[in-house]
Amino acid sequence: ADGTVEIPVVVNLLYRTTAENLSDARIAEQINVLNKDFGATNSDVNKIPAEFASVAAGDTKVRFRLVKTVRKSTKTRSWRTNDAMKKASSGGIDATDPTQYFNIWVVGDMSSILGYATFPESAGQWNDGVVLAAPFVGVTGASAPYNLGRTATHEVGHYLNLRHIWGDATCGNDFVADTPTQTGSNGGSPTYPLYNTCGGVQRSVMFMNYMDYVYDSAMYMFSAGQRDRMQAVVAAGGARAGL
Ligand code: ARG
Ligand code: ZN
Ligand code: CA
Repeated sequence: ADGTVEIPVVVNLLYRTTAENLSDARIAEQINVLNKDFGATNSDVNKIPAEFASVAAGDTKVRFRLVKTVRKSTKTRSWRTNDAMKKASSGGIDATDPTQYFNIWVVGDMSSILGYATFPESAGQWNDGVVLAAPFVGVTGASAPYNLGRTATHEVGHYLNLRHIWGDATCGNDFVADTPTQTGSNGGSPTYPLYNTCGGVQRSVMFMNYMDYVYDSAMYMFSAGQRDRMQAVVAAGGARAGL
């Protein structure tokens, strides 16, 4: 009634070692992180600087409900961003109807890649969804400094039509008006305030946005403009309205 959309999630887990065969509890923990981050009930929401409070998303009104976890043992040690994990014929797991379910694939290792996602342009296709490397899923036992479940938050942002906050170019465009233009990505754990200049205008950078590249503990907000973009995708007439 309040317009909240609950997205049904299928987790497709490919494991080689027992450590990679993440527990149901660990997967539930990850879903909880998503629900907190998308509801702005994350414990670090109070770190949002005062200057960005007026453009913080608050509750995005998107939530996630785990429907099932599909597990499959594999001999594959390391995966790439070529979607092989998404097809049984290439050693992966076929998606559960991607027009109705948000599919997440978890693989043991992707070298230095934490995760990747499809944009709403891929809605309903066999490869639609998010891929996460197991060490960065959930919290308990996850791999620092990416151990607060925020790789999923970031990738789900992409799945719901968010670009990187720096627009993947020098002073690029993320198509969100209330995220300050950035010269490039930020990493690590920057100290606030952090300034940069694009087009002769100096701005305080919203490096604590989930769509930057900082550590999990350094990111804790979506903006209102990002919220609106995500809501448009799941609303009636949006590319992901069928979920
Ligand atoms: N590099 C990945 C991407 O571009 C994920 C970055 C996630 N960042 C994090 N702090 N967990 O999709
Ligand atoms: Zn990204
Ligand atoms: Ca912007």
